[in-house]
Amino acid sequence: MSNDDILSHTEAGVLTLTFNRLDKKNSITAAMYAALADALAAARDDAAVRTVVIQGHELIFSAGNDLADFLNDPPASPDAPVWRFLHGLRSFPKPLVAGVCGAAVGIGTTLLLHCDLVYAGDNAKFSLPFVNLGLCPEAASSLLLPRRLGHARAAEALLLGEPFGAEQAAEWGLVNRILPPGEVNNFAQAQARKLADKPQSALVATKRLMKAASADAVATAMAAEGEVFGPLLRGPAAREAFSAFMDKRKPDFSKV
Ligand code: COA
Repeated sequence: MSNDDILSHTEAGVLTLTFNRLDKKNSITAAMYAALADALAAARDDAAVRTVVIQGHELIFSAGNDLADFLNDPPASPDAPVWRFLHGLRSFPKPLVAGVCGAAVGIGTTLLLHCDLVYAGDNAKFSLPFVNLGLCPEAASSLLLPRRLGHARAAEALLLGEPFGAEQAAEWGLVNRILPPGEVNNFAQAQARKLADKPQSALVATKRLMKAASADAVATAMAAEGEVFGPLLRGPAAREAFSAFMDKRKPDFSKV
């Protein structure tokens, strides 16, 4: 269930999942998605887990999907690890808490839209460069981001791919609180423990009710994105973008 790149630890009712692939900026491979998906699936039914924390390092949360994986081994089926992880996250019944410092790219930002509490370092930098990579949004961010930010702001983030910082994210309601990076994971942990001490049935019922009005729309958006994302992933623009990143050069989209 755990691999070296995803650390998994349960204590006092809190399952903590930590991105631990620092040499590659915590970019996420298929094996890491599988570990995350398996951990969430097990946590759903494990009475010993009452809250989950997802965190990175104080200098980097995640550089998003591993681009070499996208180039060489793109997810091929609806039950590929990345989609299993996103569906597990979307439907996870217990509270999810995130601690985010440094870059949170692509799914590093969109996964946060499914977390209940998000604590960010003042060094956090969120970005959704899907279009710049020849891709489209995932994790229902095409629905959730315009809903949270309004269309115009979401368009700057999703169409232009403009990054935004912790203060902007807090102002837009994507982040609960900004902290010094060295304090973020401890604070997220403390908040998770507060949740873990509360009556679980009331907590789960409250989360379900908070999400009830949007649950079907989120599932529909995720499925619709998946239908577009797969073909784009195999298309010429994305392949040029991924190759350019691996070759450390600027992509040339003039022919795609
Ligand atoms: N996939 C695969 N490898 C990645 C990666 C990714 N998403 N992000 C970073 N890496 C690797 C780099 O290739 C590099 O590997 P190397 O040391 O073998 O050359 C290493 O991690 C360090 O990355 P580097 O770009 O030198 O770090 P940085 O501090 O200058 O920049 C980022 C950090 C996150 C801003 C930058 O790495 C980046 O933009 N990554 C790509 C983000 C992305 O487009 N993600 C996909 C979203 S869908």
